[in-house]
Amino acid sequence: MPTRPAVRVLLTPDAERVPARSAAVIVDVLRATSTLTFALANGAAEIVPAATPEAALGLKRRDPAALLCGERGGRIVPGFDLGNSPAEYAPGVVGGRRLIFASTNGSIALLRAGAARRRILGAFVNASAVLRAIADEPHVTIVCAGQLGRFGLEDAAFAGYLIQALAPRDASADGPAARFAAALAPRDSAEVRTALESSSHGRYLRSLGGEFLRDVERCAEIDALDRAFEV
Ligand code: MLT
Repeated sequence: MPTRPAVRVLLTPDAERVPARSAAVIVDVLRATSTLTFALANGAAEIVPAATPEAALGLKRRDPAALLCGERGGRIVPGFDLGNSPAEYAPGVVGGRRLIFASTNGSIALLRAGAARRRILGAFVNASAVLRAIADEPHVTIVCAGQLGRFGLEDAAFAGYLIQALAPRDASADGPAARFAAALAPRDSAEVRTALESSSHGRYLRSLGGEFLRDVERCAEIDALDRAFEV
């Protein structure tokens, strides 16, 4: 009999401590957890989060074979191998490789969730697989990356989407942040696209045009992948 989950939501990574007993779902829809889910589906061996590009370079010195990945202001860090667009993380590029990953927000959320018993990457692109991954978890903490320590609509919308999807199992939205997120839950793909396109970071990425604009579309594709990954 699946457990009745209690789901807490951190609307920003520093909102509160992530309990060790929790299964943490780390969410940075635009774009880190979407991108890293594609990377792992394409065969990347491991994700090593770094809080800053400087920390990433230090890790690289100890592991020269790893790829340096990440962005600042949405654009690839100069001298890095990859930025933060899912399209860059093709099998021929990331297959078998360790990825040292320093994005502005997603890396911070990954590091803040470090104490959790399990850490699952969550995004719309693999929503159903994430639900399966937490099916038997009594305590779930959804850690939203947000933007520079502030609320991000797209991440909260995904948290709400998960909470609503857990409703048939009588999940409890534990606390005001979880109840607020549940109220933001998009009900279909059109509302997911609207949430991402109208979010502050979605509008910024779209303003950069090209691959960045296509990234917002890619990250809105519900269940583009059917696997969930732990980091
Ligand atoms: C991130 O993914 O950490 C940031 O939201 C920035 C981005 O890649 O657009």
